[in-house]
Amino acid sequence: MKEICFEIIDSTNAYLKNNYQDLDNFTIVSSKIQTKGRGRNDRVWLADDNNLLFSLLIKDKKYFNIYKDISIVSAYSIVKVLEEYGIKNLSIKWPNDVYIGGKKVCGILLESVSKQELECLVVGIGINVNQSEFNDDYRIEPTSIKKELNKDINLNEFKNKIYERLINNINLIGNYNFYDEIKNYDYLKNKEVYANIHNNKELVKVLGINEDYSLKIKLNNEVLNIETGEISFHI
Ligand code: BTN
Repeated sequence: MKEICFEIIDSTNAYLKNNYQDLDNFTIVSSKIQTKGRGRNDRVWLADDNNLLFSLLIKDKKYFNIYKDISIVSAYSIVKVLEEYGIKNLSIKWPNDVYIGGKKVCGILLESVSKQELECLVVGIGINVNQSEFNDDYRIEPTSIKKELNKDINLNEFKNKIYERLINNINLIGNYNFYDEIKNYDYLKNKEVYANIHNNKELVKVLGINEDYSLKIKLNNEVLNIETGEISFHI
């Protein structure tokens, strides 16, 4: 694994999408500050300079058809490192947000570059580490590790633990049953929530994450399996 570190950049995801051709599989790009941090559904990712903001490049084609596993196993890897730090009440809000209680501590944006065919995947991860103040511009209430533990944590040590766990786990996909563990961290399971399905706002009951990492929901007494991108939640 090779890491490229920036002090300031527009977005680590954008950097990898623009430069993947010259970089190796599993290159990581991190930055202290992002001026145009990207979130899911065309949102912005807001973070001060005390957090972990990075993207992992995946160029090896053998990973391309397991992108859904990579997405949720990345969230699970972060949960496991946060548990090591003594954090409780961790869960994964499908498809790949990490929550502590009802607050978001980490977001993941999986992007890809395609020409005639798929060229690469980019897994972008933002973890709120030592940020102590958040303004009101967040759709979902944020938290940070510092806020949960009431102390600063060593960002470099934390970063190394995250990188190691993430890459080990991605390499274990296919040989290890992550689903059996992931299903225990299902934040949305059994919740009634409003969801945007194909641009309609609907009240749905979430039945839980399926073994193929789609989401089972009940809408007007009909059970549906939903893929990422087909739905967004208002909690
Ligand atoms: C979300 O909306 O929850 C996903 C947020 C992903 C943010 C990370 S920060 C590092 C990487 N670079 C980006 O521009 N976005 C991702």
